[in-house]
Amino acid sequence: MAKMEVKTSLLDNMIGVGDMVLLEPLDEDSFINNLKKRYDHNEVYTYIGSVVISINPYRSLPIYTPEKVEEYRNRNFYELSPHIFALSDEAYRSLRDQDKDQCILITGESGAGKTEASKLVMSYVAAVCGKGAEVNQVKEQLLQSNPVLEAFGNAKTVRNDNSSRFGKYMDIEFDFKGDPLGGVISNYLLEKSRVVKQPRGERNFHIFYQILSGASEDFLCKLKLERDFSRYNYLGLDSAKVNGVDDAANFRTVRNAMQIVGFMDHETQSVFEVVAAVLKLGNIEFKPESRVNGLDESKIKDKNELKEICELTGIDQSVLERAFSFRTVEAKQEKVSTTLNVAQAYYARDALAKNLYSRLFSWLVTRINESIKAQTKVRKKVMGVLDIYGFEIFEDNSFEQFIINYCNEKLQQIFIELTLKEEQEEYIREGIEWTHIEYFNNAIICDLIENNQTGILAMLDEECLRPGTVTDDTFLEKLNQVCATHQHFESRMSKCSRFLNDTSLPHSCFRIQHYAGKVMYQVEGFVDKNNDLLYRDLSQAMWKASHSLIKALFPEGNPTKINLKRPPTAGSQFKASVATLMKNLQTKNPNYIRCIKPNDKKAAHIFNDALVCHQIRYLGLLENVRVRRAGYAFRQAYEPCLERYKMLCKQTWPHWRGPARAGVEVLFNELEIPEEEFSFGRSKIFIRNPRTLFKLEDLRKQRLEDLATLIEKIYRGWKCRTRFLLMKKSQIVIASWYRRYAQQKKYQKIKNSAVIVQSYIRGWKARKLLRELKHQKRCNEAATIIAAYWHGTQARRELKRLKEEARRKHAVAVIWAYWLGLKVRREYRKFFRANAGRKIYEFTLQRLMQKYFLEMKNKVPSLSPIDKNWPARPYLFLDSTHKELKRIFHLWRCKKYRDQFTDQQKLIYEEKLEASELFKDKKALYPASVGQPFQGAYLEISKNPKYKKLKDAVDEKIIIAEVVNKINRANGKATSRIFLLTKNNVLLADQKSGNIKSEVPLGDVTKVSMSSQNDGFFAVHLKEGSGAAGKGDFLLSSDHLIEMATKLYRTTLSQTKQKLNIEISDEFLVQFRQDKVCVKFIQGSQKNGNIPTCKRKNNRLLEVAVP
Ligand SMILES: Nc1ncnc2c1ncn2[C@@H]1O[C@H](COP(=O)(O)OP(=O)(O)OP(=O)(O)O)[C@@H](O)[C@H]1O
Ligand SMILES: [Mg+2]
Repeated sequence: MAKMEVKTSLLDNMIGVGDMVLLEPLDEDSFINNLKKRYDHNEVYTYIGSVVISINPYRSLPIYTPEKVEEYRNRNFYELSPHIFALSDEAYRSLRDQDKDQCILITGESGAGKTEASKLVMSYVAAVCGKGAEVNQVKEQLLQSNPVLEAFGNAKTVRNDNSSRFGKYMDIEFDFKGDPLGGVISNYLLEKSRVVKQPRGERNFHIFYQILSGASEDFLCKLKLERDFSRYNYLGLDSAKVNGVDDAANFRTVRNAMQIVGFMDHETQSVFEVVAAVLKLGNIEFKPESRVNGLDESKIKDKNELKEICELTGIDQSVLERAFSFRTVEAKQEKVSTTLNVAQAYYARDALAKNLYSRLFSWLVTRINESIKAQTKVRKKVMGVLDIYGFEIFEDNSFEQFIINYCNEKLQQIFIELTLKEEQEEYIREGIEWTHIEYFNNAIICDLIENNQTGILAMLDEECLRPGTVTDDTFLEKLNQVCATHQHFESRMSKCSRFLNDTSLPHSCFRIQHYAGKVMYQVEGFVDKNNDLLYRDLSQAMWKASHSLIKALFPEGNPTKINLKRPPTAGSQFKASVATLMKNLQTKNPNYIRCIKPNDKKAAHIFNDALVCHQIRYLGLLENVRVRRAGYAFRQAYEPCLERYKMLCKQTWPHWRGPARAGVEVLFNELEIPEEEFSFGRSKIFIRNPRTLFKLEDLRKQRLEDLATLIEKIYRGWKCRTRFLLMKKSQIVIASWYRRYAQQKKYQKIKNSAVIVQSYIRGWKARKLLRELKHQKRCNEAATIIAAYWHGTQARRELKRLKEEARRKHAVAVIWAYWLGLKVRREYRKFFRANAGRKIYEFTLQRLMQKYFLEMKNKVPSLSPIDKNWPARPYLFLDSTHKELKRIFHLWRCKKYRDQFTDQQKLIYEEKLEASELFKDKKALYPASVGQPFQGAYLEISKNPKYKKLKDAVDEKIIIAEVVNKINRANGKATSRIFLLTKNNVLLADQKSGNIKSEVPLGDVTKVSMSSQNDGFFAVHLKEGSGAAGKGDFLLSSDHLIEMATKLYRTTLSQTKQKLNIEISDEFLVQFRQDKVCVKFIQGSQKNGNIPTCKRKNNRLLEVAVP
């Protein structure tokens, strides 16, 4: 289905009439009323065909939002309610799509909203044209040139708080895609007189106030300025502040804009320095001073200001001072210097200030152009936006107003020309007959001003160039002569007596009937301003400045480039530039915005009928409508026309297949519209009377209602049917689903039953089969078992038979052998007789013994005496032999073992054997001593020098040298003593000194006693009455008791040939002097570890506690 497109039109929701062409009846009142009605409803834009009338709302309306931009983007001009965006869009699209250069002409009197409109157009175009970083920068620079130029070129006037005091034409250049490339700005004649003087209630250019309010203290100090406005003569005081304008904030905006546009910091600084210099120039004052020769001369009152200006601009103070006091006139290579009187000095000062400022302004425009210049050389499409100062009438109108109003005349002229031309061309293009319409053509006024011979500007130039005294009065006189008869020129002095008695017209004035009203011009200043003279001394002084910008502003001050030719006058310059502008505009497709000022109070919501009426008249808007309607009030291309009204005819509704024109013809015939009411052009239908259009609109509205009802009807029907169909479909779906469900359930049940029956049958069959198989298996098994038994029986029978057979065979063999043996013995009995048996027996015995010994040779165990192994006895009859053999073998291997010993080893083993015989199984200490070798000399007496004396005293061989503990006889305490045993003696010596304490010959030792326990105590009993026995027996204790006792025993035996008595008993008697003391060994506590303790209990008892 094709997308439903909602077609809108300017005719939808219209307040009043959006396009004045459709106004009915068409007269001034209805025109104004329509504008007023729309204005009251915030509809500030109204069309006359393609011309936009804009009424200044004097308040911000919410109709310039980005959403609005989107709304108007790419829409047809008449599609939405009138708007400046529609015009901008139309212009931009025909530039982009049809490659037509455009210009947007914005006209209207001062304060009507031209500048605002131009900014709206630019911002719209910026919003809808291409995007991208580079493009955005270009856009931004183009847009930001506005605040800079407005700050320097706009001022508050009684008519407009932001009145443009210069004309501006800006060409915005685009590439083939419609992306902006750059722009060129042309400026027209700045109203520079404002720099030095402002009418009451007006201000100087904004920038002066902006600097003083917005610059930082520091910056002001640099510019040698003070914040107080009243300090400066050039600033009119009565309206220094403007309501709703924040000069300080605007200053920041301007600086920011300058930065964006591309001004370098030093350039910005220079610009403000020039502005400051201009401001300060106004403060230079002069006083008269008479010179000797009687000539008047002026002198600067206070040179401080001059000094500061010179510091600021880098001009030599004396040069500038001289330029304010003298004037050099060069004529025919002669230089004449004349002094300036006070008035002339002031004139010179003001002229300098004006020139400085206006040249600065032109420089700014050039500089901005440099920045925004398109960077490529490709062919560009151009959209020109013209925002020129509006037509204005002040109390005192001077040369500037004359120029401004002339410019507006020219614009009106081009409007008239182009509008009519365009209209006419369209009719011709479309092949429609066109009848001429009367309108006021202001060409006559333009001619009055610009005619090369008789025009006012030509006259003024003539006066300025004429030798002799020239004053404003002579100029007026000349005007009076030449223009007297012109119907738009009025003067008291003119030859035409019409105005002789008109007291409202002073003598020094002339009046021109402009298209927009009569304006009375004060002739004073015309000549001067047209001449625009600046004394050469001043321009030379400026050129000498070290300030590069100022120097550049006054190139004519360069003495090497003196040009004696007069520069063109201001008037002729302006005329020429306007002519160029007009030519330029004529090459482009014009788009008009006609601004209307609703009141003089700059206030919102006030619609002054008289004021508006006046503007409508002089702008010729009514004529504009008439011209537009003369032929045909409304025209529209066939396609949109058919699209809009096709529902009014059966043939064209809903679709017309064929050319749109034919469709419209059919439509109009069907509607029975009188033939004289419309005409068919080549691409458009032309409707003569708006009433016809409204009739069409009414029919359309009616038809739309019918169509809406029809659509509603069909829609309702469709909706009900759709619902019904849906429900029907749903019912079928539900029913089918239910049936399916029911059948599924039934099927499932049958299936389940079938499965059960099936399973029973299968079970029964399987069981039957199983039974059969089991039976078969059992039969098989039984057969196998029977067969096995049968085979077993057969096998056993066979085995029995075979065994029987074998037994029989064996028996036969034995019997046979016996029989053979018997036969042999019977045969050989005669050879062996009775002793043969004995011999065999002996032989056998011998053989057996031989075998035994031979085997024994291989079976004998190792030679180790402690090896207990011995092979088993093979024959019982050799039992005793076997034992004997074992004993002999043992003795033999012991001998073998002993034979290996050296003499010393033999001695050691003898001692060990002795010890074993003495102590084995008697003394508990003995087993521990078996493994310890007997060393004897534990103390090395000979080597230790301490015992030298002891060694010397003993000359015999020392058998034992050992430290023992001698038990004190009185208290049982132990003292260390060296125990020496020599061949003949036993010695006890002091352990420390080596002094011999006791010496006992071995013959005096009778007995040694010791316990059976695990201690080292022993008593040495001495022979009664011997020399050593004075104190009694010795009770000693040693770690090598077994060795000592053994060695003592052996030595005594070898010396005395007597066995020493060794008594082993746990209780024995010792002789201490006269007492017989019993030494008793008891089981002691473990208190002292493993060391036995000895204690004398009484005269008779000494107890040794053994752990
Ligand atoms: N569309 C608008 N919406 C809101 N305010 C507007 C609009 N147009 C104009 N104004 C107001 O009117 C004032 C004057 O407008 P503008 O400066 O555009 O006049 P102008 O025609 O350029 O005058 P001049 O010829 O003196 O330069 C603006 O400062 C602004 O306050
Ligand atoms: Mg303006």
